[in-house]
Amino acid sequence: MSNVAVIGAQWGDEGKGKIVDLFTHDADIVVRFQGGNNAGHTLVVNGEKTVLHLIPSGALHSHKLCVIGNGVVVDPGILLEEIAGLRKKGYLCDDALLRISDAAHLIMPYHKAIDQARERLRGKGKIGTTGRGIGPAYEDKVARTGIRFIDLLDATTFRDKLKRNIEEKNIYLKAILKEKTLDFKEIYDAYRGYRDELEKYVTNTGVMLDREIKAGRKVLFEGAQGTLLDVDHGTYPYVTSSNTVIGGVCTGAGVGPRNIQQVIGISKAYTTRVGSGPFPTELKGPEGEKLKQEGAEFGATTGRARRCGWFDAVGVRHAVRINGLTGIALTKLDVLTGFKKIPICTAYRSGGALYEEFPSSVKALKNAEPVLEEMEGWNEPLSKARKLSDLPDNAQRYVRRLEEIVQTEIILVSVGPGREETILLKNPFV
Ligand code: GDP
Ligand code: IMO
Ligand code: MG
Repeated sequence: MSNVAVIGAQWGDEGKGKIVDLFTHDADIVVRFQGGNNAGHTLVVNGEKTVLHLIPSGALHSHKLCVIGNGVVVDPGILLEEIAGLRKKGYLCDDALLRISDAAHLIMPYHKAIDQARERLRGKGKIGTTGRGIGPAYEDKVARTGIRFIDLLDATTFRDKLKRNIEEKNIYLKAILKEKTLDFKEIYDAYRGYRDELEKYVTNTGVMLDREIKAGRKVLFEGAQGTLLDVDHGTYPYVTSSNTVIGGVCTGAGVGPRNIQQVIGISKAYTTRVGSGPFPTELKGPEGEKLKQEGAEFGATTGRARRCGWFDAVGVRHAVRINGLTGIALTKLDVLTGFKKIPICTAYRSGGALYEEFPSSVKALKNAEPVLEEMEGWNEPLSKARKLSDLPDNAQRYVRRLEEIVQTEIILVSVGPGREETILLKNPFV
């Protein structure tokens, strides 16, 4: 019996949604444990594209339980829209297939207002957040002023907490951020409405997961964002506000570490990043443009163009170490078709020093020159490959070389967005 965690090994958008959807075949329960609707996970099933922001990417399989853990920050309006969208397509029709932790924190309208206003004020120095209120919601959680689902269920508690928050946030919005203030009654009524619709899903998901795991049910934990966006281990301050790494599974789902047997890192065969922050292998010329076009690198949440660059083994090795990755799923190999040479970054040079480990200093990262090793490219399209031996020799060599450089087994190679466009080398559930 094994439970599996899927973790982004780069700056997000590695293709976690596709891989989680695929692995759900062998799981009973899929759990989101951090982040919020800053995530955009794309699934392509029978040619139809679905983008999920909050609901776990197991939702397109019938009879699989989807769980939103306590570590997720939930915008209830967005969640209801997502549920409705899935139902329209014939998914998630049974209420019993979704559970939300009673300890998950709510994203409130003031969180979004503060997030967006701060970004505007930061001007050129902005982080490039998704503007969904993620950072301010986690700030309140840590400041012990946040509002959880359990609070929303009780009218008096919710009223008191909202009142205190609104008073404080309105002063901050008006005096510091020069923004409009928010109306207590409007928010109170809207959120009580959300409560009526969401109450049936709310439970103690930690206790539920413990019971299910003991009963032999297989659990798939779905990370959002990626290791390099982790608030502790990423390119701080150009990060998100949660722990995206494996430790986040224990805190954000309420399970002990011995319940996780396999940790699969998802990495593109190259690198992308959306928003600001250092990116040592970024390509600003025609090669970056080609990656962006061939890879359709536009954000699934905000539609922003993603910055593109070569595979960064320094970053992925960092993800291997922090997450204790047991395997890597390598995605978007098909996008590299048509490049004559494909460089791999094996180290950085910065300020006269050689970095083989990912530095904590943003300054070192900003000035980093990648040390590149060049591989020969290929011209054949890859999307029909289903075995490693179906790939052109140079593509096979590229995969094997990446495996050597990051010292982790590649258990899956993805060659297109579709569920079936996959070379599965090892099933993590068996
Ligand atoms: P996530 O946030 O990690 O789930 O990734 P996103 O869904 O934001 O971005 C990944 C994008 O790449 C989506 O548009 C996927 O449909 C697409 N994708 C996933 N795997 C592959 C692949 O192997 N090849 C190609 N061409 N596209 C892929
Ligand atoms: P998935 O799960 C890529 C980035 C934002 C910004 C930074 C902080 O689809 O991989 P935030 O709104 O979280 O405060 O923004 O993090 N970011 C992501 N980048 N994929 C994501 O999620 C992201 N979620 C947040 O662009 O740079
Ligand atoms: Mg995404």
